[in-house]
Formats: sequence, C-alpha cells, structure tokens
Amino acid sequence: MNASDERTVSLWSDVDVVPDAVPLGRNEDFDAVVVGSGIAGMSIAYELAAAGQKVAVLDRGRIGGGMTARTTAHLASVCDDYFSELIGLRGEELARLYFQSHSAAIDRIEAIQTAERISCDFRRLDGFLFLASEKAAADLRRELEAGRKIGIAVEEVSGLPLARHADTPALRYPDQATFHPLKYLRGLATGIRARGGTLYSDTIVDKVEETDGGVRVGTNSGLTVTARWAIVATNSPINDRVALHTKQAPYRTYAMAFEIARGIVPDGLYWDTEDPYHYVRLHPGDDESDFLIVGGEDHKTGTADDADDRFAALTSWSRRLVPDLGAETHRWSGQVMETIDYAGFIGRNPGNERLFVVTGDSGEGMTHGVVASLLISEVILGGNSAWRELYEPSRKTVSAVGNYLAENATMIKNFAEYVAPGEIESVDRLRPGEGAIVREGMTKIAAFRGDDGTLYRRSATCTHVGCHVHWNSLERCWDCPCHGSHFAVDGTVLNAPAVSPLTEID
Ligand SMILES: Cc1cc2nc3c(=O)[nH]c(=O)nc-3n(C[C@H](O)[C@H](O)[C@H](O)COP(=O)(O)OP(=O)(O)OC[C@H]3O[C@@H](n4cnc5c(N)ncnc54)[C@H](O)[C@@H]3O)c2cc1C
Ligand code: FES
Repeated sequence: MNASDERTVSLWSDVDVVPDAVPLGRNEDFDAVVVGSGIAGMSIAYELAAAGQKVAVLDRGRIGGGMTARTTAHLASVCDDYFSELIGLRGEELARLYFQSHSAAIDRIEAIQTAERISCDFRRLDGFLFLASEKAAADLRRELEAGRKIGIAVEEVSGLPLARHADTPALRYPDQATFHPLKYLRGLATGIRARGGTLYSDTIVDKVEETDGGVRVGTNSGLTVTARWAIVATNSPINDRVALHTKQAPYRTYAMAFEIARGIVPDGLYWDTEDPYHYVRLHPGDDESDFLIVGGEDHKTGTADDADDRFAALTSWSRRLVPDLGAETHRWSGQVMETIDYAGFIGRNPGNERLFVVTGDSGEGMTHGVVASLLISEVILGGNSAWRELYEPSRKTVSAVGNYLAENATMIKNFAEYVAPGEIESVDRLRPGEGAIVREGMTKIAAFRGDDGTLYRRSATCTHVGCHVHWNSLERCWDCPCHGSHFAVDGTVLNAPAVSPLTEID
C-alpha cells in the first residue's frame, strides 16, 4: 500500500502506470536499485537505464501511486519560495543554478516525451505570478529584480484573464510547461523496461545499507537486492532518522478540479503572492471543455483537520476569479516537504559513497525529481555535477537557522502531547467512520471505527522516531506532523519515512 490507498483521488488517478508490475520474488542483483517509483525514482531509473545500467525500481505500493499521483504538475523553473529569498539564504550564483537546473529539468521532460513518443499532454506555456494584495507589491518588485539579476527573461505585465484582475500587476515567466503526470510516468516505465529495467510493486523496503563496494536493500519479506548503487527516492527518506529530517518539514496541500469552457482562461500557470499561495493550471478535457485545477490552503501536516473548510475557501477563491467556472469534478490532498533553505536535498546520503537520496521537493517536486535524475546519474556515471553544492544533502545553511528552529519546534510540541488527555474519553464514543486519540492509562491509542462498526486500535506512536500521530478525517489516515509519515486505519504505512506499521493494541 501507499498514498494511492488514501481516500481522495486526483484527476490523474484513472491511469494505472504499470498494471502488470509484481512484487520482488527472489534475491536479485543489479547495477543500480531505486527505492520509490514517483517522478524522482522513475526519472533516475530512466537515465541510468538509458546509460546502459541494469536497473530495478522497488515500490511499497502501486507504481507511481505516491505524491506524484496527487500533484498538479506545474513544470516551473521559478523558485516558489521566491528567488529574492533564495538569494538572501544561498547567494546569487546558487540561485542562478537553481533556475538553470529546473529549466534543464523541463527541457529533459520535453526531450524524453518526444523521444519516447509519450502522449502526455505536454505543452510549453507562460507562468504568471500575480499580486494577491497591495501589501505584497514590494515583494513582486523585489522578485522582478531578483529574477533579472540571475538572468531570467521575466517581465512585468498586467491584463490577467481573471475577474477583477485586469489591472493587477504580475510577473510573466516564459518557457514553463505542464503535462499529465501519470501518462508521463507510464511512458517512462515503458522506456525503462525497453532498456532491460525491472519495476517491482508492493515491495516494502525496510533497510538500505552500504556494503564493501556495493549496497544491500532489504525488504520486509526477507528478500534482498544487491547493487553497486542505491537511490532512496521515497519522497521523505526512509533511511534517515535525524540528519535530513531536521532540515525539512511536511505540509498538507489541497487541490480541486472544475469543468471550464475552453478559452475562458488561456492555458498557463498562475500562482499568487498569498502565503500559502494559490496555484492554478488547465488540463485538456473533451472537445469543448477543459479542467481548471486549483490548489493551496496548505498547513503543516497534522496541525489541522478541517479539509471541508479549506476546500470551501479554495472554491470561493476560484469562483471569484473565474465566475463562469463549471462543476467541481475532483478534490484531493497530498503532502510536500519544505526545506529550511528553499532548495531540495539531492546527492550522496550524508556519510555514504554509494547511497544517494532525493528529498525536499517543495511545491516544485516534479522538476525537482527530474533535477535529481540528471544530477545523480551524472555523479554516478561521470563523478560530478555542476549542481552538487546547491543540493548537497549534508549542507548546513547558517543563514536559515530561524527556519530551522521554527520547523523543529513541532517535534518538541508533539512529544508534549503524550502527557495530554485523549481527544475522547473512550473508544465507545466513536461513531462509524470516525477516528480519534484515546488515552488508556499511560497508552495513547489511535482508534478508528469502520463504517461496518469494526474497531481498529493502534498505538499513536509513529514508528519512525516516535512522534504522536494525528487523525486526518479527509483521507481517513493517521498523519505524523514530524516528518510526514501517513498510516492507514489498520496501521499500515501509506507514506514514508516510516517503514513499519503502527503497533496493534489489544
Ligand atoms: C496537491 C499537490 C500539488 C502539487 N503541485 C505541484 C506542482 O504543480 N508542481 C510541482 O513541481 N510539484 C507539485 N507538487 C509536488 C510534487 O507532486 C511532488 O513533490 C512529487 O510528485 C514527489 O515525487 P517523488 O518521486 O519524490 O515522491 P512520490 O511520488 O511520493 O514517490 C515516492 C514513492 O516511494 C514509495 N515508498 C515509500 N516508502 C517506501 C518503502 N519503504 N519501500 C518502497 N517504496 C517506498 C512510495 O510508495 C511512493 O510511490 C504537488 C504536490 C501535491 C501533493
Ligand atoms: S515521521 Fe518521523 S516520527 Fe513520525
């Protein structure tokens, strides 16, 4: 199981990326083994297979069933935390490399979908960052200057095709793109297999270790894969307890799709200066209509359980901007990992030579995953990459200490919850479909009653490093606020970094 077993489904989910994938059935040996089959893992596997490496991808659930199935797939080379902020934290040269690496990722997706003849609705378009309130006017100007400083052909425009926004100042970024994420992954899977690669679904990796001259990847069935290289692409890394996890934090984000008559809003990527920001794109529907996809209303994972209010806010924001919007067709949620210094972590796992990691995707995880495929394959095959310093996983960004302290306060607050009372007095209070934390003596129980009355009682202690899980009534799962694990009501892990289920309580 993985995040594809959470309750909501996205606009993309009717595409099964590799329906005939099967679990690992015996011990195997490869040149490279990739753990995780999202945009990052599949893109890395593709690059290595294309270079002649014998590659395997292992995933704990459906291939492509992680956050990549829940994305909105803006393919943007623009830092969503603002280049002006990134320059402040990391300097002008690294900000320029950020733009160049994400631009290269879009170019690479375009080249692969052409070469592999992947029919995935890929198109180049403009991106527009627009002012949400007068308050942010200075931010927009600062962003314009920052973009120009690092060589982006950004320009100030007005006349956005959104109601009451004809005079709203905006920045136009050329050469952005979008596509159907799962149709693209399906094409990558075909390309990997055509080059001798193997894709294993429903295979839970519980150990990744470096050996003398190689790596060993263990699974919970007892089978192992050995290889020369391993890449952990599980979105939130399963091989790390502290080093990377203290430098990033998980955020839930919400998305919706609506029908819209073709032409009302021109094809493009739109996002505003709100914090958290709203993001908008189109996706082709049938002959006369398209889908307008809107996202936003983010919060730190596990700190709110009010999805209906967030969808209502997204709906009214969307209808204010597009009064002719049609019916809602989909609503879903997912999670992104936000790093303290606004660039992801891609490269050798701290302390390892043959073990690589990719995490810290932020709202740009699609291009970030493809940056990882270029960087990691370059390092494995050629020894270096011009982007290594920017994404170095072991880096310590002293100027981001404020963000570091703010994000890690969650963990301290979370552990204090163990001494708090339960949310309800007894499991007897749970109605069908409800979940809550119950205290029984010293034990905190994550309790859920199924629609048929079945009671599930699991420990509320996350199996990663022990934080206290929180109920998510939208997805009917337990979310861990510390590093982003999600668990099904029966305790099964749905999202990394945890690998073991919540303990059953008799
Ligand atoms: C609502 C929403 C909107 C977004 N919009 C955008 C956008 O517009 N543009 C953009 O660039 N990004 C966007 N993002 C972010 C982007 O979608 C993600 O960052 C990206 O898809 C992550 O890809 P990934 O390969 O790192 O992870 P995933 O797709 O989550 O893949 C990780 C895989 O690892 C597997 N795994 C985990 N643990 C194990 C284990 N123990 N053993 C084996 N396998 C394991 C999982 O099953 C999963 O399939 C959005 C995200 C969300 C949720
Ligand atoms: S995800 Fe790390 S403690 Fe739960």
